[in-house]
Amino acid sequence: MGNGTMGIIDVKNFEKSFKGRNIHKDVTFTVNKGECLGLVGGSGSGKSVLLKSLIGLIKPDAGEILIDGELINSFDDDDLRRLRQKVAYVFQNGALFDSMDIYENLAYPLRAHTDFSEDKIKEKIERILELLGLESICHILPSQLSGGMQKRVGLARSIILEPDVILYDEPTAGLDPFNTKNIQDIILRLKATGVTSIFVSHDVPSALIVCDRLALLSEGQIVLCESVDNINNNPNSHIHKFLNGEEI
Ligand SMILES: Nc1ncnc2c1ncn2[C@@H]1O[C@H](COP(=O)(O)OP(=O)(O)O)[C@@H](O)[C@H]1O
Ligand SMILES: [Mg+2]
Repeated sequence: MGNGTMGIIDVKNFEKSFKGRNIHKDVTFTVNKGECLGLVGGSGSGKSVLLKSLIGLIKPDAGEILIDGELINSFDDDDLRRLRQKVAYVFQNGALFDSMDIYENLAYPLRAHTDFSEDKIKEKIERILELLGLESICHILPSQLSGGMQKRVGLARSIILEPDVILYDEPTAGLDPFNTKNIQDIILRLKATGVTSIFVSHDVPSALIVCDRLALLSEGQIVLCESVDNINNNPNSHIHKFLNGEEI
């Protein structure tokens, strides 16, 4: 590798403890532009903490986080606002506003972060609803939608500012096979537009479909990071052992 090889996300020697409990001991990985990196690991292994650290919601105890070559550790509020337009975090439950209809939920980030006209906002909302196969639900409240649809709307709201990077936190958790397939298709469609992403999940079959590489987080470290093709071809891979509940 030549000098200057750098990913769009570079995490180096990341450490984080809570109340003296060492969650991340030494986490190092890179995500390249346009790729989808799967991050798998047991419950409580620190996957969500790691994603939240990438948008500055949680500060590392030690180590470096670089986004597009910029060290975000010491970002101020303005820098963080800029970062969060470029890097979207898709919350597990969608985090929609219950009292606003779907249109207003989707208009919210556009009104808060852009000076787009109402016509332009309408156009953006129509485009994203079409991308996610959600036409005709504009004037419905979130509570009137199924869980699968709410998740899709949450995803729509997270990506309406057209981020370069999307952090998916368990986007298929609790979904039936139909809605799981739907989310997989959306992630693949976004990837085809050049979006870079991290896919955090327990759902290894989905990860094998949408990701280019898989990283396994265990005991505070990335213990394995390899291409999905290698994992599929290698039945002895750590990932399969993890899936089978074996010690790794
Ligand atoms: N803000 C916080 N304060 C204290 N402990 C936390 C906080 N956030 C996460 N933790 C703890 O850190 C560990 C990792 O959490 P998390 O990243 O949510 O795991 P997961 O891999 O399931 O997403 C858990 O033990 C959790 O209780
Ligand atoms: Mg989590």
